[in-house]
Amino acid sequence: MPELNLILFGPPGAGKGTQADRLRIDFRLPFISTGDMLRANVKDGTELGKQGKDYMDKGELVPDELIVAMARERLTEADAQDGFILDGFPRTIEQANALDAQLAELKRRVTAAILIDVPGEEVVRRLSGRRVCVKAGHNYHVDFDPPKRDGVCDQDGSRLIQRDDDKPEVIRNRLEVYHQQTEPLVSYYDQQGLMRRIDGTRSPEEVHDHIRAVIATLRMEDDV
Ligand code: AP5
Repeated sequence: MPELNLILFGPPGAGKGTQADRLRIDFRLPFISTGDMLRANVKDGTELGKQGKDYMDKGELVPDELIVAMARERLTEADAQDGFILDGFPRTIEQANALDAQLAELKRRVTAAILIDVPGEEVVRRLSGRRVCVKAGHNYHVDFDPPKRDGVCDQDGSRLIQRDDDKPEVIRNRLEVYHQQTEPLVSYYDQQGLMRRIDGTRSPEEVHDHIRAVIATLRMEDDV
């Protein structure tokens, strides 16, 4: 069966990670989050982590050359050869061009860019209540998606914490950066006929069902 090369796209807090976690199980695809990769580098104290941390703490984008090299290497790994779900990459036109070029070298292409659309005020509500587990970054929300036991991850039993960049002033900057640098990708993928829009204000289950329906349609249209 031809591969599914999906991009999950949308403002910070739209629910990309929440949905990617479900979709990778549905479609048995690797979930590649540049945010998670950067946080792992920060935690491990690598050179990339040291270079990226200041940008991340301020809610700015990490420079394209660092991100493109990191994503490029990840996409060459064995598990990404038959499809992938990208979360948080590409985030600039330059990153999108680099991804297209890498896939074209391998006679592959992006199947669809799925935009999970959520207004700014909802982003602030979601991110200020988000909690993530220290072990694997599983996502929860204190009101909308609470864990079974307060402060403990349902999936691996580890402690839940608030991310450093989920402070109100950083959330505002992340939104601004999204509008300025990432939103132009909507037209980029629209022009290629690849953009699919999802109403991200629905419940996580409804958003999941909608994305699955979109993917089913893509498969019928393209025999993907
Ligand atoms: P990254 O980790 O990618 O952060 P982000 O894009 O800002 O996205 P988030 O992870 O905050 O949100 P999400 O959409 O995954 O939402 P989630 O599912 O958690 O990037 C972090 C930083 O790394 C960037 O600021 C940048 O510095 C750097 N970086 C990363 N990639 C880069 C790149 N390509 N180029 C340059 N720099 C890069 O959901 C949020 C909350 O809402 C959760 O609590 C969840 O439980 C809840 N929720 C989810 N869905 C729903 C729903 N439907 N209803 C109610 N609540 C919901």
